[in-house]
Amino acid sequence: MKNYKITFMPNNITVDVDPSKFPYGETGQPGSVLDIALTHGVDLEHVCGGNIACSTCHVIVEKGFNTCSAMTSDEQDQLENASGKTAQSRLSCQCIPDGSEDVVVRIP
Ligand code: FES
Repeated sequence: MKNYKITFMPNNITVDVDPSKFPYGETGQPGSVLDIALTHGVDLEHVCGGNIACSTCHVIVEKGFNTCSAMTSDEQDQLENASGKTAQSRLSCQCIPDGSEDVVVRIP
């Protein structure tokens, strides 16, 4: 997996992602958008600690949605509780981009 960039909106913070360093931290799936955000000081809520038991880590993947890991039924169920859910919504603790293109996510 090659390096890629993730931009976090609305604060327009872009970070370089180096998959050879995964897992960055201990919260969320290794290489998930949440794992990347927390490691780079991006403020992204994660009340349940990445265990698919809340929807506070909800993000909208504005670019690169199709590069993200498939959604599990547990994630789909939990996403129903997210306010402002769209067709490109994901739980950031479960959403792992494959790095084939740069990604833009919006934190609602
Ligand atoms: S942090 Fe709770 S579901 Fe992602």
